[in-house]
Amino acid sequence: MKLSKRLQSIYDMVPSGVVADVGSDHGKLIISLFENGVISKGYAIENKKGPFARLKKAIEERHLENDVIPMFSDGISELPEDVNTVVIAGMGGFNIIDILKKNRRKLKNVKTIIVDAHNAIPELRKQVCKMGYIITDEDIVFEDNIYYEIIKFIVGEVAFLDEPDIEFGPILRNEKSITFIDKYNSRIKEIDVLLATHKIPEAKSKELNCEKERIRSIL
Ligand SMILES: C[S@@+](CC[C@H](N)C(=O)[O-])C[C@H]1O[C@@H](n2cnc3c(N)ncnc32)[C@H](O)[C@@H]1O
Repeated sequence: MKLSKRLQSIYDMVPSGVVADVGSDHGKLIISLFENGVISKGYAIENKKGPFARLKKAIEERHLENDVIPMFSDGISELPEDVNTVVIAGMGGFNIIDILKKNRRKLKNVKTIIVDAHNAIPELRKQVCKMGYIITDEDIVFEDNIYYEIIKFIVGEVAFLDEPDIEFGPILRNEKSITFIDKYNSRIKEIDVLLATHKIPEAKSKELNCEKERIRSIL
């Protein structure tokens, strides 16, 4: 099964073991992980009827239902005890935080969490680290005109993250890949166009100029 660049990046971070893909939708990621022998078992979790029906069909068509188990359930509320990795991708950052925090005790055997959030990424870094995880890998990919940030957390001693780490990612800002640099150069251009072509209230324009300065300081 051919994966998008974004899903491939998540796939590349998944360790062996038992994985739950929360918000599995089409099931492409978890099916590929199992079919290629990366994981020994998977749970594909969905809380909406349409995507769940699609997911179940994709799993059954491949006769994988004993190994990639479809679950109609909300977030990690019914997470099985044998899961050691949770993937939550393609959702808003606050939704991901809510899913993890609402049923925190379900994470007791979960060593790895991999996320790909549409937004609120700094808050997500902060909150998952507060839950006793550390960031061990990050990737940024550009696909369909969107920059995606993928973050891998593993259980670990609290590590100090300063403000630039939280905003830009401790690994991403250190690696400074071409995609990372492109993302923030585009953001600087976007801010410049906004400031030059719109009547922006003073407080907002100050905020945008501060953002530009923060970006410049890490590029
Ligand atoms: C945009 S899709 C992303 C699908 C896939 N994870 C990916 O990255 O390509 C988000 C999916 O998450 C599901 N979802 C959202 N909140 C959820 C929750 N609390 N529990 C389970 N599934 C959820 C939605 O129904 C939807 O199918």
